[in-house]
Amino acid sequence: MTQHIGELNPPARLMLTPGPSSVDPRVYRALATPLVGHMDPWFKGCMDETQILLRQIFQTENRITMPLSASGSGGIEASVVNVLEEGDEAIIAVNGVFSERMYEIATRASSKVIKVGAPYGKPVDAEDVCRAGKGKKIKMIGLAQGETSTGVLTRIDGYRKVADEFGALLVVDTVASLAAVPLHVDREGVDICFSGSQKAISAPPGMSPITVSPAAEEVFRKRKTKVQSWYFDLTTAMNYWGKDRLYHHTPPISLIFALREAMRLVVEEGLENRWERHRVNQLALIAGVEAMGLKLLVEKPADRLPTVTAVMVPGGVDDVKLRNQLLDEFDIEIAGGFGSLKGKIWRVGLMGYCSQKANVLLFLAALEKCLIDQGYRVGSGAGVGAAVKNYSQVEAAVVASR
Ligand SMILES: Cc1ncc(COP(=O)(O)O)c(C=O)c1O
Repeated sequence: MTQHIGELNPPARLMLTPGPSSVDPRVYRALATPLVGHMDPWFKGCMDETQILLRQIFQTENRITMPLSASGSGGIEASVVNVLEEGDEAIIAVNGVFSERMYEIATRASSKVIKVGAPYGKPVDAEDVCRAGKGKKIKMIGLAQGETSTGVLTRIDGYRKVADEFGALLVVDTVASLAAVPLHVDREGVDICFSGSQKAISAPPGMSPITVSPAAEEVFRKRKTKVQSWYFDLTTAMNYWGKDRLYHHTPPISLIFALREAMRLVVEEGLENRWERHRVNQLALIAGVEAMGLKLLVEKPADRLPTVTAVMVPGGVDDVKLRNQLLDEFDIEIAGGFGSLKGKIWRVGLMGYCSQKANVLLFLAALEKCLIDQGYRVGSGAGVGAAVKNYSQVEAAVVASR
């Protein structure tokens, strides 16, 4: 039986999701450039450039710095399985689905992993982690700087102090925060930091940038057992990404081209400018949704992750119906909640290329229309008006400070 399959023609969506984000046209052009071999001398130069850009974005000089051929979950897996051996004690700070994933992966590597939790919408208190580890030989502390399932930001500094008390490695998931939220891997003493290509870096999904401190390298060297994953053994993966450039596996070459271009865009903009852009656009979004009478899951402003805003679904409004209307009528995709937050929150992403003033204003106008269609009462133009006012105030303050 033959069935005709037409040419691929995806819809042009505005992806205001917690990832992936929409992609700059320059990144698409890089993705469509001719393929070269992964052992081609020219490509080896391209790998050097990719690593230089990664080090700038992570703010590190770490030798082991590379894009893993994997999504963000591969970054979690690689970090955990290279550090932990059976019997090793570790603590994972869990405040949502993705930090829970790190805990789950860690429990597969060792039976002595402690979970320290916080209610959804709050960061885990580093003091609680400190208490949980008292008297134990903690080898690793893991957390998510940006917990995408709830839109919570965790400050790293308190964790470094706790890790120092135990002599533990600090492992930080920055899948939803790298290139959007202040981060200095070396200065803040993060031992293993990983991310995802598809969020604030705004490249297609499929790569997980990772960087490893000399202290973590030393821990790898002292392992008694082999890393149980051949693919994610970072020491052997560095045979390819290190100076020898020896074959390890065939990487997704076109994705590396796209990642390189996306990172060039990050560096051209400047990290500080990019962090500020994410902060300002989220503040305008928040001003807008609050002016429409909507509430946020994360109550404390300092705990809000600039890339993902969790908005409570108001009573009487159907979560799925509203998201479908946004998609069908406006080509805008946002996400719902996971697990116990299913049907209770919307997660609005403003990441990388998507974190733009025009997108914030379009989204607020579209949200107002969808809410009104479900009978929710909102003052005409209230959200857009509040966001515009917020932008004007920020811009006036910038002019006054010059
Ligand atoms: C904080 C965080 N960690 C890990 C992941 C897993 O990444 P991926 O879905 O690319 O495997 C995600 C994905 O949303 C995330 O937001």
